[in-house]
Amino acid sequence: MVSASSHSSTAVRLRRVSKQFRAAEGHHVTALCGVEVDIGGGEVVALVGQSGCGKSTLLRLVAGLEAPSEGEVSIAGRSVHGPAAECAMVFQEHRLFPWLTVAENVAFALRDVPRAEQRGLIQEQLAVMGLQSFARAYSHQLSGGMAQRAALARALVRKPSVLLLDEPFAALDAFTKTRLQEELWHVRDRAQPTTLLVTHDIEEAVYLADRIVVLSERPGQIRAQLTIDLARPRDRTSSAFSLWRRRVLRELSGAQDFPSSPTIPAAPISIHRGQALPLAARSKET
Ligand SMILES: Nc1ncnc2c1ncn2[C@@H]1O[C@H](COP(=O)(O)OP(=O)(O)OP(=O)(O)O)[C@@H](O)[C@H]1O
Ligand SMILES: [Mg+2]
Repeated sequence: MVSASSHSSTAVRLRRVSKQFRAAEGHHVTALCGVEVDIGGGEVVALVGQSGCGKSTLLRLVAGLEAPSEGEVSIAGRSVHGPAAECAMVFQEHRLFPWLTVAENVAFALRDVPRAEQRGLIQEQLAVMGLQSFARAYSHQLSGGMAQRAALARALVRKPSVLLLDEPFAALDAFTKTRLQEELWHVRDRAQPTTLLVTHDIEEAVYLADRIVVLSERPGQIRAQLTIDLARPRDRTSSAFSLWRRRVLRELSGAQDFPSSPTIPAAPISIHRGQALPLAARSKET
């Protein structure tokens, strides 16, 4: 079982991070406010919250694609200023270059790697993602699931230490989504990148995450952090899994107004309100 306590030192750290955007007519939108979170090396953290609460903004801050208005984002102890080489990102839409084949799209991520080395890395990654026979296909010749697999291959081929996933399976049908969630778990299990997953799908969060961070509505602040201590592989049909799903839903909707089920027993669940939960504290708590 992977638990928060088994993760090594902090890989991603956000300290008092706020982000404001300039909106129309000189107004400002505060997307995030005073966010503090530590993510351990190899940990999988799911970020959930209502639409517009700043989830994608938070990923872009970690990736160095946006700068915080206040506070600091650091990866492996180094402050992030500009695009972070250790990060790879996957989005809801595959964003493959339509004029390149699958193999060429993956190669694009390796453009600074000598050509002689590229070939082996691409073949290996395509094999891992089950795409060997589609290496020469273009994105319009792929199903949605295959295109998303290719996008994952492009992200993983550099063996990033931080994997940022912004609703990567949201556009897929339920069956393909479930399969890809399982594949993602196995694939990332090999290299163990620190993973930050944005999702609206509570089942996906409970299935994949070691910890779920719940953001409030905008401006996004950390409302709760839940350490999911279910053994892996996780059984979506188990009562413990359902319990977790309900807990997350309850946190998302505000604990007071979500009906709790009298048939679900109290379980040894760890929920932390508010901001950063130090790794040391987390390991004591599990
Ligand atoms: N570049 C930008 N310029 C102006 N406002 C922005 C910019 N990027 C994001 N915002 C605003 O910041 C807020 C948070 O946006 P963000 O995309 O992070 O939300 P989200 O939680 O990812 O939403 P969703 O679940 O719908 O994807 C929104 O109000 C959005 O309009
Ligand atoms: Mg978003």
